[in-house]
Amino acid sequence: MTWKKISEKGEISAGKGKAFKIDGKQIAIFNQDGYHALDDLCVHQDGSIAGGKLDGDIIECPLHFWHYNIKTGQLNDYLKDVKLETYSVESRDDGIYVDI
Ligand code: FES
Repeated sequence: MTWKKISEKGEISAGKGKAFKIDGKQIAIFNQDGYHALDDLCVHQDGSIAGGKLDGDIIECPLHFWHYNIKTGQLNDYLKDVKLETYSVESRDDGIYVDI
């Protein structure tokens, strides 16, 4: 795993998420109670979860409303034991970094 800069500071509004492409992956970063990083593509039909509705730790996929925990990646409904991969994320002086 390698720490890589994924975003400038201030690029992700508080209480929101944003999708980024890095190293062939599409990753969602959420600015909610600290920063959280996880795979952006919903396991249902590859919807981008970054722009979904955030309620506490739960993001709702905007396409068909499946729900994931942004801290664990765990899918909350429909299927058992399904989770999106999560990544360590740090806010540093010069930007937001993820360990990918
Ligand atoms: S693509 Fe996310 S719920 Fe269908």
